[in-house]
Amino acid sequence: MIAFVWAQDANGIIGKDGKLPWHLKDDLQYFKQRTLNQIVVMGRKTFAGMGSRPLPKRTNVVLTRNVAYTASGATVLHSRAEVLAFAAKQPERDLMIIGGSQVFKLFMDDVDTLYVTRIRGEFAGDTTMPTVPWAKFELVDSEHVAMADPQLVHDFETWRRP
Ligand SMILES: NC(=O)c1ccc[n+]([C@@H]2O[C@H](COP(=O)([O-])OP(=O)(O)OC[C@H]3O[C@@H](n4cnc5c(N)ncnc54)[C@H](OP(=O)(O)O)[C@@H]3O)[C@@H](O)[C@H]2O)c1
Repeated sequence: MIAFVWAQDANGIIGKDGKLPWHLKDDLQYFKQRTLNQIVVMGRKTFAGMGSRPLPKRTNVVLTRNVAYTASGATVLHSRAEVLAFAAKQPERDLMIIGGSQVFKLFMDDVDTLYVTRIRGEFAGDTTMPTVPWAKFELVDSEHVAMADPQLVHDFETWRRP
């Protein structure tokens, strides 16, 4: 499986100043549950936004074009092809693409499963999810989460290529 895992607001915003625009505890738990023990692939900017700390109990891959870049506790790769070859050597594990925008765009033709958290509110931000070809996917699961703050009401959706 090659999956995307992300959260977006009503306008497709996913990031602000290198970080997430919201604090949503259950989404972080959902993210952890989806990615634990798998390969997580992220762009260098997303990794920096996490304080350059690898996510525990996951194989962390950081993508950069900078061949001199190193990241303690993470595997540094330099292209889409390198990531796919790395994952092919571990077929028992899923390839979880965790962003950001540039990296989602890079794997848009490869992804077969989408785990999207749709947050109902509108947030200020500077990074948007690239266009997803939704017509090529079908919704297979959806869970609604009510919140006291209407901005934070959200749905966990799973989409798969038929
Ligand atoms: N809401 C969510 O679910 C979610 C998830 C993830 C991230 N985010 C947010 O998204 C924002 C960051 O997204 P972003 O799009 O600006 O950056 P990004 O995708 O995290 O990282 C971009 C970097 O990845 C490297 N890269 C991109 N394409 C590459 C390629 N083809 N080959 C090799 N390396 C490549 C480059 O690193 P170098 O410049 O080092 O070459 C590039 O600058 C942050 O605000 C973050 O919090 C949100």
